[in-house]
Amino acid sequence: MQKISHYHSAFVSYLEENIQSKEPASLYDPILYILGLGGKRLRPILTLMTAEAFSDWYKNALDAALSVEIFHNFSLIHDDIMDTAPLRRGQPTVHEKWDVNTGILSGDAMLILAYQLFERYDANTFQDLAKLFSRTALQVCEGQQYDMDFETREDVSVAEYLKMIEFKTAVLVGAAMKMGAIVASASKEDQNYIYEFGRLLGIAFQLQDDYLDAFGDPKTFGKQVGGDIIENKKTFLFIKALEFSNEDDRLELQHLFGITPSDPSDKIETVKQIFQTSGSADATRKEIENYTKKAFTVLDKLSIPENKKEALKIFGDDLMNRRV
Ligand code: IPE
Ligand code: IPE
Ligand code: MG
Ligand code: MG
Ligand code: MG
Repeated sequence: MQKISHYHSAFVSYLEENIQSKEPASLYDPILYILGLGGKRLRPILTLMTAEAFSDWYKNALDAALSVEIFHNFSLIHDDIMDTAPLRRGQPTVHEKWDVNTGILSGDAMLILAYQLFERYDANTFQDLAKLFSRTALQVCEGQQYDMDFETREDVSVAEYLKMIEFKTAVLVGAAMKMGAIVASASKEDQNYIYEFGRLLGIAFQLQDDYLDAFGDPKTFGKQVGGDIIENKKTFLFIKALEFSNEDDRLELQHLFGITPSDPSDKIETVKQIFQTSGSADATRKEIENYTKKAFTVLDKLSIPENKKEALKIFGDDLMNRRV
């Protein structure tokens, strides 16, 4: 296996070679903009690492990796519209820099570009990738719809929350890895285990995303800190705070999640305080660790050498401890 930074730079070079602007610029420039803003590139890195874990040759997986990253960035453009988010990776979101209509259409084009990349594979691989991709993309839409439906519901359970984040986020992490396994002609059994590893890691990843949305450092986080609180998102932090709080704090939290003040700074501060004092912030950190550990137990089942499992484990540990 190579160092993470090797997969990262190989991927970015491939992206730059393959994605160029053309006419109409108003359609393609936002695509270049969002893809050029960087980000962690964790999904394509996982596709490449998985391909290498099963075949010692990751370059065949570059198109699948590119597809996953384009799909992810498409989902971010539309997600930022739905979440009315001003910032992405420290820069204005596409709908802020251009407008909502631009975000919708450039996003649509990215979804199609992501699919089109599978045409570069032989018929069997194409079919496997396209099937997995279609199912995953539909689940992401379902997860996103639950996420929005929950904004106006007060009785969201932990089980409902977990299903929502599994769909909006975790299945794509699983699929990114399974695509690497498909391209590398891994056995069906290994394909399914690596999907399960990615899915569990993806759940930990979204829990961490929710945690950082409240407690991340505004200087480095790259997104609006407190955005989930402003939007009344029913995160693990919120659900557990309701469960753990005393009567006064619970009523306060319920009240705050029913209003949208024009200046949200007091709301954000109070809510974060309750997340801390109730013990829900600690419970969230614990849950991130639980899901990461659960993911690691799946690695034991894979038929790949120990050093390759270790590389995937290090990547998982880094994700759990990330600050952005
Ligand atoms: C953000 O994903 C959306 C979530 C699913 C939490 P990332 O945190 O992977 O975003 P980038 O690509 O690194 O910016
Ligand atoms: C996004 O979840 C999931 C998808 C984009 C499908 P979030 O709304 O939490 O992601 P961020 O925090 O905006 O990156
Ligand atoms: Mg969002
Ligand atoms: Mg969202
Ligand atoms: Mg988030």
